[in-house]
Amino acid sequence: MFVKNAWYVAAWPREVTDKPLARVICGEPVVLYRDGAGAAVALRDMCCHRALPLSLGKIVGGNIQCGYHGYTYDGTGACVDIPGQSHIPEHARTRSYPVAEKFHCVWIWMGDAPANPAEIPALWWLDHAEWKPSTPDMAHLKCDYRLIMDNVLDATHLTYVHPTTIGASSIVAFEPEITHDERVVRISRWMLDRPPPPAYAKAGDFDGNADRWAAVEYWAPAVCVNFAGCVDVGHGGPGKDIRQSPRRVELVSINLPTPAEEGACHYFFAFARAFKHDDPEIDHFFGPGMVKVFEEDFGILEAQQRMLEKYPAEKRVSTIYDRGPAMARRMLERMVEAERG
Ligand code: FES
Ligand SMILES: [Fe+2]
Repeated sequence: MFVKNAWYVAAWPREVTDKPLARVICGEPVVLYRDGAGAAVALRDMCCHRALPLSLGKIVGGNIQCGYHGYTYDGTGACVDIPGQSHIPEHARTRSYPVAEKFHCVWIWMGDAPANPAEIPALWWLDHAEWKPSTPDMAHLKCDYRLIMDNVLDATHLTYVHPTTIGASSIVAFEPEITHDERVVRISRWMLDRPPPPAYAKAGDFDGNADRWAAVEYWAPAVCVNFAGCVDVGHGGPGKDIRQSPRRVELVSINLPTPAEEGACHYFFAFARAFKHDDPEIDHFFGPGMVKVFEEDFGILEAQQRMLEKYPAEKRVSTIYDRGPAMARRMLERMVEAERG
C-alpha cells in the first residue's frame, strides 16, 4: 500500500555517484547515478533489450550503459546508442523518474502525476546556521515503513526501548496534545519538573529536574520529525521561550522511511541540534551515539513485522497513546484511496 504521487527520499547525496546504485522504491526497481553535469538521475532499473538491470552496467560519458549488449541510455531514459545499429527505435527507452536534491536529500517522485519540487517537505534544520546536523544515516529494515511511523509517533516506547539514553519513566504521566490537518499530524507533550533522561542530563549538565518536551510532526506519507529536549525548570511549557534557559538541550531527529516493497523499507534518518555546536563530545553523542539509540528500535520493528506476517488477522489492542499513529494511518489510507480513484 504505497502512495506513489509523493516525494520520497531515494538516497543521501553521497550515495549517488558515477557508479550505478540499485534501490527498490515503492515496489519498483530503480537505478540512481549522476550524469555528466553531476545531476542525480533515476531510471527504471531495466534495459529495454533483454531486461537486464541497468545497475549491472556502468556510467559512460554521463549516460548509463547496459552491462549485457551495451545499449546506452540518457537521463531521460531514452536509448541513445545501440552498438552495431544506427537506427534507434522510438520505444527503445526505460522509465525515468523525477528527482530533486533539496535539504541534503535526493528525492524521487514515483507517481504519474506531475512532480513539483516546491512540494518537497521542508527539512530546513539540515540547512540552517542555528542547527548543526549529524552525518545522516540509513538502514535497510525488513519492516513495513508504517511501523516506523507508529514508533516515532508514540513516545511512550522511549521508557522501555531506550531506558539508558533518551527514555524516562515520566512520559505516560503527561498527556500529549494531538492535532491534525489534511496532510500533517502533530503531537506535543511537555513533561515539567521531572528528571531528564540520562543522555540529556549528561549533554546539558542537568543535575536535578528539568522541563522536557517531546513533540513530533508526521507529514504524510513518509516524513516524521521529532522535536526533543529539556531546559531548566520554569523555562519550559507552552508559550515559553526555551532559549532564555541557562541550560538547554534542543534536538530534532528526522525520520524518512521510504517504502522498498511490502514489508521492507529504507529508513533514512538524520539529527540536528541547536546547542553546544563546538563540543566534540556532543558531536559524538548526537551523531554515532544517537545511531546506536535508533538501532535499539530496529530489532523491535523487524520482530513486529515477523509476527504481523505470521498472524495478519489477529486483533490488536490500542490505548489512548495510539491515537496519533491511528490518525497517521487513516491519513495515509485516504491518500491511497484518492490515488486509486
Ligand atoms: S539486455 Fe541490455 S543491452 Fe541487451
Ligand atoms: Fe525509539
